[in-house]
Amino acid sequence: MQTLHLQTKIRTVKILEEIARRRTFGIVSHPDAGKTTLTEKLLLFGGAIQEAGAVKNNKIKKTATSDFMEIEKQRGISVATSVMAFEYKNRHINILDTPGHQDFAEDTFRTLTAVDSAIVVVDVAKGVETQTEKLVQVCRMRATPIMVFINKLDREGRDGFDLLDEIEGKLGLRLCPLSWPVGMGARFQGVYNIWDQSLLLYEEQSKQKIGRSMAFKDLNDPELDQRIGEEAASTLREEIELIQGVYPEFDREAYLKGEICPVFFGSALNNFGVKELLDCFVEIAPSPQPKKAEEREVIPSEKQFSGFVFKIHANIDPNHRSRIAFVKIVSGLFERNTNYLHVREGKNLKFSSPLTFLASKKEVVDYAVPGDIVGLPDTGNFRIGDSLTGGEALHFTGIPSFSPEHFRFINNADPLKSKQLAKGVDQLMDEGVAQLFTLISNGRKIIGTVGALQYEVIQYRLEHEYGAKCAYEPFQAYKALWVQSTDMDQLEEFKKFKARYLAEDKYGRLVFLADSAFSLQMSQEKFDKLSFHAKSEF
Ligand code: G4P
Repeated sequence: MQTLHLQTKIRTVKILEEIARRRTFGIVSHPDAGKTTLTEKLLLFGGAIQEAGAVKNNKIKKTATSDFMEIEKQRGISVATSVMAFEYKNRHINILDTPGHQDFAEDTFRTLTAVDSAIVVVDVAKGVETQTEKLVQVCRMRATPIMVFINKLDREGRDGFDLLDEIEGKLGLRLCPLSWPVGMGARFQGVYNIWDQSLLLYEEQSKQKIGRSMAFKDLNDPELDQRIGEEAASTLREEIELIQGVYPEFDREAYLKGEICPVFFGSALNNFGVKELLDCFVEIAPSPQPKKAEEREVIPSEKQFSGFVFKIHANIDPNHRSRIAFVKIVSGLFERNTNYLHVREGKNLKFSSPLTFLASKKEVVDYAVPGDIVGLPDTGNFRIGDSLTGGEALHFTGIPSFSPEHFRFINNADPLKSKQLAKGVDQLMDEGVAQLFTLISNGRKIIGTVGALQYEVIQYRLEHEYGAKCAYEPFQAYKALWVQSTDMDQLEEFKKFKARYLAEDKYGRLVFLADSAFSLQMSQEKFDKLSFHAKSEF
C-alpha cells in the first residue's frame, strides 16, 4: 500500500517536472517574413531535423486561387508539421504551425488559442504588414506573451528605431529591445546582445554556420572598436544608450503578462541571431498556463485530465473520411486507451492510437502532459472548441469565431443528394473550414469565409468526399456581428426592424449580417442597448 502511495507521489512529481519543462508557442508573421525559415533553424538547433529544407517542403506556398487543389494537397502534407516538438536545454518545446496563407487565417487564429506564447517575425524592410496586425490583435486579446524577431538584417532595411516605432504604433505593443544590429545589408556586421551583453559578429563566408559571440560587458572596451571599427562602435554605443533611455528595462513579469515584448534582430536564413533568440526564449517563455472554462479556471498541475480541440485536420484521401482532432492538454495526464468524457456529446471515448508529432514524424504515444498536443484520429465526433475531460463537465472559453470577410448563399445542386450535402456541410463547418449562418426569416444557408479560396475548397470536397453538389449565389454582407443585449424589448424591436439580415450561427447564436458599414452604424445608434461584436465571444 505504502509503495503504491510512494509510486503515485513520484509520478505526480515527475508530471509536475514535465509540465514545467514544456514551452508551447506559435510563430506568426505576414507571409514571406521568414516564419518557415526561422522554424526550420529552431528545429535544427533542437536536433529535430538534420538538414534545412525539411519544413520548407511542407509549406503552403503562395498559390493562385485556381490552384486550390495544390493548396489542399499541401495542407494534407502539412498535417505532419502541425506540431513540431524538440528538446533544447532541458526544455521540451512544441512549435504549433500557423498557416501563413491569409485564406487560412482562421486556422491560425484558432491555433493561437492553444499557445502559451508567440514569436512575431517582422521583415526589416517591409515592417508591419496586414497579416501581422491581425494576428497580433488575436494574441493581445488573450494577453499572450510575445517576443519579436526582426528578420533579414543581411538585406537593406528600415532604420531600427523607425521600425520599433512602427511596431509599437501599429501593433500596440510596448517593446524592449534585447538585441541591437550593427549596421544592416551590405554594412551588416552583427548584433549586440543586450540580454547577455555579448557581441555576435556576422561573417558572410560562414553563412550557414552558427556564429560565435564574444562577451562585452563594457561597451567602452576599446576592443569593440577593433572588432567593428571606430565609427560603428561609436554608433552602437550611442544607440544602446538611447535604447536604455527610451525603452523599459526587461521585466519578466511584465513580459509574462503581455505588457512588454522583447525584441531580437537577426537573419533566419543565415542562422544569425536565432540561437540568441532561442536561448532567451527558453529562459523567459512561460510554461503551460491556466485556461478559463465557463465553470472555472483550470490549472495545469491539477490531477484530472482536461483538454480542448483547437484544430481539426481532414485527411484529403477521399476514400477515408478520417480526420485528426488536435487537442491541447490543459491539465492532468492524458493516457492512451483510457476513457475520457466528450463533454458536448456527454459520452465516453477511448483512444487507442493518439499521435504526437516530432518534427515531421507522427508517433503513437502512451501519455502526454499539459502543454502537449495530441492528435486524435476522429470519424466525426469532434468540433472545434470541444472539451475532453476526466469526467468533469468543463467548457473551455477563448476559442471564438471571427466575422468572415466573404458571404455566399449555398444551394443544393443535386436534389437527390440533399442528405449528403447537409452532412458534408455540417462536418466541414465542424472542421472550421468556414462558418455557416442560417437566415431566420427563410432558413436559407449562407457560408462565410475568410478567403474566397474556401468556396472552391468546399465545393470540391463536398463532391469528392460526400458525393454532393453545391452552387453558390451572392449574398451582400459587410460583416457578421454577434448580437448581445441587456434590453429584451429593444432586442425584439431590432429583430423586427432587421429581420431580413438576421441569422443564427451553428450554435444558435443571433448574428446580424450587416449589409454595409453605414447600416451597422445606424443600428448601433438606433439600438443603443444592443452591442454588436465582430467575434463570437465577448
Ligand atoms: P514565410 O514562412 O514567413 O512565408 O517565409 P519564408 O521562411 O518562406 O521566407 C520567405 C523568403 O524570405 C524565402 O525566400 C526565404 O529564403 C527568405 N528569407 C528568410 N529569412 C531570410 C533572411 O534572413 N535573409 C534573407 N535575405 N532572406 C530570408 P524565397 O526566395 O521566397 O524562397 P526560397 O527560394 O529561398 O526558398
